[in-house]
Amino acid sequence: MRTLITNIKELVQVETGRPKMRAMGKEMAHLETVKDAYLLVEDGKIKAFGPMSEWNGSADRVVDATGRMVFPSFCDSHTHLVYANSREHEFVDKIRGLSYEEIAKRGGGILNSAKATAAATEDELYDMAQQRLEEAMRLGTGAIEIKSGYGLTTESELKLLRVIRRLKENSSMTIKSNFLGAHGIPMEYRGHQEDYVDLVIKEMIPRVANEGLADFIDVFCDQGFFTVEDTTRILEAGIKHGLRPKIHANEMAVSGGVQVGVKYGAISVDHLEQMGDAEIECLKGSDTMPTILPGCAFFLNLPLSPARRMIEAGLPVAMASDYNPGTSPSCNMQLVLSMACIRYRLTPEEALNAVTLNTAYAMGVSHEVGTIAVGKKANFYITKPIPSYEYMPYSYGENKVERTFLNGVEV
Ligand code: NIG
Ligand code: FE
Repeated sequence: MRTLITNIKELVQVETGRPKMRAMGKEMAHLETVKDAYLLVEDGKIKAFGPMSEWNGSADRVVDATGRMVFPSFCDSHTHLVYANSREHEFVDKIRGLSYEEIAKRGGGILNSAKATAAATEDELYDMAQQRLEEAMRLGTGAIEIKSGYGLTTESELKLLRVIRRLKENSSMTIKSNFLGAHGIPMEYRGHQEDYVDLVIKEMIPRVANEGLADFIDVFCDQGFFTVEDTTRILEAGIKHGLRPKIHANEMAVSGGVQVGVKYGAISVDHLEQMGDAEIECLKGSDTMPTILPGCAFFLNLPLSPARRMIEAGLPVAMASDYNPGTSPSCNMQLVLSMACIRYRLTPEEALNAVTLNTAYAMGVSHEVGTIAVGKKANFYITKPIPSYEYMPYSYGENKVERTFLNGVEV
């Protein structure tokens, strides 16, 4: 099956040379495009692209994109998409002055979601997650990482991971799953959280690994949550079971999370609202993708991660949604793209790299998605008529995506 997209006003983020796995420092400002372009898809993969004037051949299906642009689908490398309840009451508590940490200390926050998630059946969780996934797709996302972490008991964590497995089986999105048993400390373990860490290590990780339920292992390494020592123990156990770390670090405090993540070869360290020079130094020369979550900082009014400083230090930067009911109840990567420019002062070119290629790297799939390159999956969207690619971040809060193709098929 050959599908041809014709008369594309501008085909954005193409790679004509050898595809890059990530864009670092100055490379982030590089964005290659083809004006008045065609894009040819064959058997789910990108077969060819170039100026319309160079096209000659035949296709089974032709889609005319006159006035419209084509972009590679967003890759959202950090979400908690499987959960049972929204938490707008805590949202109101926060407006009235309570902090995220205060709510968590009282047993709200993550534990609030864990209670509701324990009461929901696997089918119910699947149906809710499936709808959220559809919404993400409608907004232009084509690859997504999904964490467990609202279980916090062995059975409940396994239930969440099985929901993610079903999503993988039934969705045309590229999905990676991340085991986040160490997301919150259940009330009964307060004061002796090392016993909960033991449960994660001795019971949860072996079962998750035996059932092949996760691609990554995560820990919320931060003040008031898991310590560097807890994190070290969990990551070592996860690595022994074949799970690569991908962790939450430095949201509440300079927690040592970045260093422990880099030490254990984390594919990404995420949040990074609290970053000193030592954290930036430590990331240099590593294979770890620093990942910023603009929706969370916006929703909780947190300090902004020093994205520009990181790019100027030669680091890559990725930006993901952190879609979850407590700190970022939106899967809208178009909004993340806008926030990258407006709040973090990335140029549109840097921001586009942050939400596609670099997030693809942060979930281990940049060899197959994240740019328009021959041989990659045909995951892309056609915009509504728009004047320029800079219009994508500029026009914030609007859905500019008209049609989405995943594996070459319109969804
Ligand atoms: O990435 N920071 C830790 N975990 C989530 C929030 C989870 C919640 O509050 O439900 C996050 O922001
Ligand atoms: Fe998160």
